Amino acid sequence: MPELNLPGHIEVLPNRDALFTELAQHVMHAAQEAVRDRGVFHIALSGGSTPEPFYMMLCTDTRWRSIPWNQAHIWLVDERRVAEDDAKSNMKMIRESLTDQIPISHRHIHAMPVLEDDPATLYEKQFEDTFGFNVASGKVPQIDFILLGMGDDGHTASIFPKSDAVHVHDRWVFANDGPHVTPPPRLTLTYPVINAGRSVAVLAVGGKKAPTLQRVSEQLAQHGPDPENLPITGIHPSNLTWFLDEAAAASN
Ligand code: 6PG
Repeated sequence: MPELNLPGHIEVLPNRDALFTELAQHVMHAAQEAVRDRGVFHIALSGGSTPEPFYMMLCTDTRWRSIPWNQAHIWLVDERRVAEDDAKSNMKMIRESLTDQIPISHRHIHAMPVLEDDPATLYEKQFEDTFGFNVASGKVPQIDFILLGMGDDGHTASIFPKSDAVHVHDRWVFANDGPHVTPPPRLTLTYPVINAGRSVAVLAVGGKKAPTLQRVSEQLAQHGPDPENLPITGIHPSNLTWFLDEAAAASN
């Protein structure tokens, strides 16, 4: 299988279950290291369909019962601006598949206040209250583990091709909307926060993801990052791992 040209490390596992096991081991290691070093584990989770069975495995499979959820904060990578009982809500999916089943304080589950006015500022305030500094400080909250997905159009988080979020580098959170954002309007972490992540994972499963991963690989190999058209190429944290099954990693 020809090598994909992607930044960071690439883990290709034969099937989804083996891939989820590898990813869970990385989450557990990151959590135990964060709690050992700082007494707290901050993790940011994406929505979409791929990670839902992974979240269910994390909280039902006894191999992961030592993840220190009682010392964790769960953040959202992005959210659709809908009510939390809407089937499109990432928080609804994450509560049902993970947080309702683990020993975590409800105060440490940071839902995005997407129905409020100026939700980006409100979510930045949650980061400020937790990390102790604000956007004006010029610092960026360092989340221990960020789990990203990748859309067929090369979006990640809710940073869509040609959307305004591509160009936001002076905020931690951004309300993304407009003709280039797949409805409904979104709230998303921005590149500065994602790229500051201590450990960032991109999870892509299934043959549908293969053409986009090939496009990303060719773009990076031949021309370098193109966040405007392939937003996921704007992801370059110091510790990035792509978790792919063989179908997603296959060349055409
Ligand atoms: C969302 C996600 C989004 C997702 C990709 C991939 O709110 O939809 O955060 O960025 O990760 O769209 O989605 P799938 O995993 O469903 O392919």
